[in-house]
Amino acid sequence: MDNQTACPITNLSNLFKPLDLSDPYPLMAQARQEEPVFYSPEINYWVVTRFEDIKAIFQDYETFTAENTITPIEPFSETVLEMLNDGDYTPVPVLSNNVPPSHTRIRKLVNKLFTPRRMKHFEPEIRQIVNGRIDTFIDQGKVDIVSAMTYDLPAMVLFRVLGVPDEDVPQVKVWSDNRILLYYGRPTPEEQIEFTKNLIPFWKYTVGLVEKKVANPEDDLISDLIAMRNGDDSILTINEIASCMITLLVAGHETTTAQMSNAVQHLLEDRPKWEALCQNPALIPNANEELMRFDPSVCTWRRVARKACTIAGIDIPKDSNLLLMLNSGNRDTAVFPKPDDIVLERKNAAKNLAFGFGIHYCVGAPLARLELNITLEELTRRIPTLQLVPEQHYEYVENLSFRGPLKLWVEWKK
Ligand code: HEM
Repeated sequence: MDNQTACPITNLSNLFKPLDLSDPYPLMAQARQEEPVFYSPEINYWVVTRFEDIKAIFQDYETFTAENTITPIEPFSETVLEMLNDGDYTPVPVLSNNVPPSHTRIRKLVNKLFTPRRMKHFEPEIRQIVNGRIDTFIDQGKVDIVSAMTYDLPAMVLFRVLGVPDEDVPQVKVWSDNRILLYYGRPTPEEQIEFTKNLIPFWKYTVGLVEKKVANPEDDLISDLIAMRNGDDSILTINEIASCMITLLVAGHETTTAQMSNAVQHLLEDRPKWEALCQNPALIPNANEELMRFDPSVCTWRRVARKACTIAGIDIPKDSNLLLMLNSGNRDTAVFPKPDDIVLERKNAAKNLAFGFGIHYCVGAPLARLELNITLEELTRRIPTLQLVPEQHYEYVENLSFRGPLKLWVEWKK
């Protein structure tokens, strides 16, 4: 039997639980060693675990397209498809699941919104938001830092940057949590209907926001995108702007929320590392790169193989779905020696795959980095005695790609 027809189910195929993010690392270490590419029947994806293979896939965007990055794991039922149709749910691929040349056209414009220089301009405002948040709990001595800080903070920042009113943060957080469960989780048919009921007002809200800015432009990024369009649909349509916005209103905060929580958790688990940052805040930017390597909040991402190909000696049929294990590539000893240790001054920490690679590299990376750095700077400066409440059990939302603890209890000397 040749490879094309051989049964692809192996030992790892059965052991791998793609939506269980509680502790992915031991199985990934085994996979890199024994079967760097294996098939997962549970989701019908080929799982790729080594750094160089993942990077090569990201680089070859013609063979490996990103069209499946927001394809629901659980296909939508007929009822849901009808609801979306009746609810005028019309977003189009613009960024993460788009392909050139349309992706290139849109990405060039969106890039201009998030340059590091532009983001730097928001630094004082972000610092103020972070400190405002710390003020709300610093007298308490013990909190779940997710609900007290990291859950809302990135949305508050992103909303200011985009030009969305602060008071809409709680509603948009609920909508985008739902969207993640709908696309990346495995909802029951009833849940799928419930989440879809939330998706339609989310889309309408986004379209309304864009229409408001068309009528009354302000000093914000949505208005900037509208100005770049200059009334010309060949540059960018209004529907594409709304599609970019709904993408940003999910991608731009859930990811950073989870990364902030992962960073605080791991630094406090290895407390001398936390103390090192308190004593020398100049280490923080590289520490954040290392923490993203060690436990990236976007732990997996996807591609489709548009040609038959061979990856790590395994033949992959045309049109196969690939699950790229960013969290595994980031612990590949071929690139990162002692990958299970957090090394604050690791020289090549920023080589990690947490923001992807190539034409789809995270457009919000400059903003995410700024937020992560300011958050650690202010937390280490203002609450150096911060420590983990002992004997916690961390829980994660069951889904394919987004990993961060739902609660993280910390305490400190008042
Ligand atoms: C720590 C926080 C974040 C992480 C770990 C993260 C991670 C990622 C990853 C892995 C990708 C896919 C890259 C690829 O396919 O090669 C991505 C794409 C993207 N991210 Fe982020 N992200 C973060 C924060 C943000 C923020 C703050 C924004 C918006 C302000 C954002 C907006 C986007 C968008 C729009 C894309 C699609 C880009 C494209 O396809 O051209 N992300 N991100």
